[in-house]
Amino acid sequence: MFSRRNGHQSLPRSLSVLVYLLLQTHSCKGQSQLIAPSQPIVAKVGNDVILPCHLEPAVDVVSFSLEWTRPDMNPVFVHMRRARQDLIDTKHPSYKGRTSVSIDELKNGNISLKLSKVKPSDAGRYQCYIPKLDIGAFVELVVGAASSPVISLSGLDRNKAGVILKCNSTGWYPEPEVFWLDGEGNLLSAGPTETVRGPDDLYTVSSRVTVEKRHSNSFTCRVQQNSTNQIRETRIHVPGRE
Ligand SMILES: *[C@@H]1O[C@H](CO)[C@@H](O)[C@H](O)[C@H]1NC(C)=O
Ligand SMILES: *[C@@H]1O[C@H](CO)[C@@H](O)[C@H](O)[C@H]1NC(C)=O
Ligand SMILES: *[C@@H]1O[C@H](CO)[C@@H](O)[C@H](O)[C@H]1NC(C)=O
Repeated sequence: MFSRRNGHQSLPRSLSVLVYLLLQTHSCKGQSQLIAPSQPIVAKVGNDVILPCHLEPAVDVVSFSLEWTRPDMNPVFVHMRRARQDLIDTKHPSYKGRTSVSIDELKNGNISLKLSKVKPSDAGRYQCYIPKLDIGAFVELVVGAASSPVISLSGLDRNKAGVILKCNSTGWYPEPEVFWLDGEGNLLSAGPTETVRGPDDLYTVSSRVTVEKRHSNSFTCRVQQNSTNQIRETRIHVPGRE
């Protein structure tokens, strides 16, 4: 192909080869896409979670720079890889020691991020990004925590000849709602729900209800968080109220 005899012709020819190669590299760039789930990833507080993100068609990205960021934070970096090394100094302190990517998976173009010991503050929108290819994708992480409520007898209501029940449930995220139900599953009107947020960002909720003789003997406290689809219930029997 490359004739050395016609030296004066080989320059434009190798230039056109160069241009062709550049164009081809450029069009390859446009071909691979980063694929991330369109539905939010739901994780429980304290668990580990994978934020999926991979190249299609697959390209070995072991030697590529990679960035996982959260645009709403400062600094934005959650996980950064440069020159085959994970950079730790530039990332947000909240993520120190909790993020990793799998080297084996990078060979398959899979830049999914493993996030350990999930915290409520991890909830948000993440971006995976490959600077060299200038492509990125977004992954939404929803964080939830739930635990069963505890019902206790809080007092007697002499006027109404009823008893006051109290429901208490700790360790929720996001903030849940509390409902009281009678034995037939009908909603009871209760006092306002008290909500306290702990230092770990988790919510404790408590609620009181006065139950009267006309009600059945069985009562349920239901704590419910709709956005993470979590429901916990505890039932109590209040005997001997004749
Ligand atoms: C990408 O790697 C993660 C582990 O880091 C794995 O759970 C996931 O299944 C992989 N995804 C694909 C498409 O191979
Ligand atoms: C609710 O339960 C938690 C843990 O069992 C306890 O620390 C807290 O004092 C209780 N709160 C109320 C209002 O009863
Ligand atoms: C959550 O769902 C229940 C029905 O299961 C509904 O009564 C309640 O209003 C919902 N709460 C919110 C905040 O949307």
